[in-house]
Amino acid sequence: MTQEQRPTRTGLDWPRAQTFLAQERARFHEAHPRSAALAARARDHLLFGVPLHWMNDWGTPFALHVDHASGAQVTDVDGHTLTDFCLGDTGAMFGHSPAPVAAAVARQATRGFTTMLATEDAAVVGEQLAQRFGLPVWQFAMSATDANRYIVRWLRAATGRKKILVFNGCYHGTIEDVFVDLVDGRPVQRDSLLGQVHNLLDTTVVVEFNDLAALDAALADGDVACVLAEPVMTNIGMVLPEPGYWAEAQQIIRRHGTLLVMDETHTISTGPGGYARAQGIAPDALVLGKPVGGGVPCAVYGMSAELAARVERAKREAPPGHSGIGTTLTGNMLAMAAMRAALTEVMTPAAYGHMLALAQRLAAGLREVIARHGLPWCVTQVGARTEFQFCPTPPRNGSEADRILDGELEHLIHLGLLNRGVMITPFHNMMLVCPQTTDEHVAQLIGALDEALTQITQKA
Ligand SMILES: Cc1ncc(COP(=O)(O)O)c(C=O)c1O
Repeated sequence: MTQEQRPTRTGLDWPRAQTFLAQERARFHEAHPRSAALAARARDHLLFGVPLHWMNDWGTPFALHVDHASGAQVTDVDGHTLTDFCLGDTGAMFGHSPAPVAAAVARQATRGFTTMLATEDAAVVGEQLAQRFGLPVWQFAMSATDANRYIVRWLRAATGRKKILVFNGCYHGTIEDVFVDLVDGRPVQRDSLLGQVHNLLDTTVVVEFNDLAALDAALADGDVACVLAEPVMTNIGMVLPEPGYWAEAQQIIRRHGTLLVMDETHTISTGPGGYARAQGIAPDALVLGKPVGGGVPCAVYGMSAELAARVERAKREAPPGHSGIGTTLTGNMLAMAAMRAALTEVMTPAAYGHMLALAQRLAAGLREVIARHGLPWCVTQVGARTEFQFCPTPPRNGSEADRILDGELEHLIHLGLLNRGVMITPFHNMMLVCPQTTDEHVAQLIGALDEALTQITQKA
């Protein structure tokens, strides 16, 4: 969004917003001397001064350093306790250190971390996943990125097709294949991708979400192994499927002999079986990372019996040697113990009951604040995941969602919230509620947003 578009498109008084930003940055500096000192110390030996360069993408003037996190709260090294609606961008969607997972991890910690062998937990986790998602056969990975990478490799091998199809504006982790966008309707490799040497356009097809005709046309040559999709786009801001979209899309995908992989890593916010199960979509394969181990690094991917048979045949018929699938620590004993606890004791219908009801109240509160300030913004929700977007009606595809992103404005709002004791995701305006989030936390967020908006919106 350009500087000129901003006031009319967002309803803001931009000079006032700039003054607010300067104040908030000064306030953050003053309140975080220990974080500042640690950020300065880390600069010498950590690339970009942080463990992962994205950690500089928060709206803070320097990296906030955490002392500890528990339930719905994060306490920083300067002693501020923040109400956390970011929740590790979904890794902690069931709260920080959920007690059953913490206990399972503590138990396992003296019984070995990794042996390249299964424990009893593996069988239990397989059964739990099958029951929950309705897909019978499962494998593991260390991250959702890896799970996506492996399922795509399996499906290419099983189908003998090289191409995959993704939706414009998608994100499925750092699996390279998906970094293809539509720019003015034409596919281009995302130019932010570092060190990429293969031309992704040879093997990745990209279409807009909610465009059935484009999907049909893109699959017509019968050379696409799979559609890799989030059932609701969540990474370019949220984009909901139009009513009936997936039922129709699924028929098209099947007609072309293509397989459907649902990446439920974020949309597990919908309910215990994810968005697909709740909506009666029957994907051939499903990926889930982030919260599946209660925040302990691990991920899973599952598939139908029919697909599993094809996958097993592909492996049997391949020459012996490295498959390109798996890492040494995949399925390690610690991760399996964490997943068992998360699946059996944490990601429960009762937990979802609380989260979904509270998220409804959050969405209603946000709509009320936005209306009160007369802003042309909307609120989108997928279960426990809620987002406000800088447009009056929700975007229908990646291009529309991309046009309304405004990193500068997002950071300004996020910093204003942080200084008022509330943390939301640094990318767009996403908020999650967890089982430990309370009505008071939601009221705190709404109040903080109200206060920040009062300072940056145009006065009548
Ligand atoms: C839908 C989706 N899939 C996969 C991933 C990758 O997860 P990870 O970074 O844990 O590998 C993400 C990360 O944000 C995601 O949003």
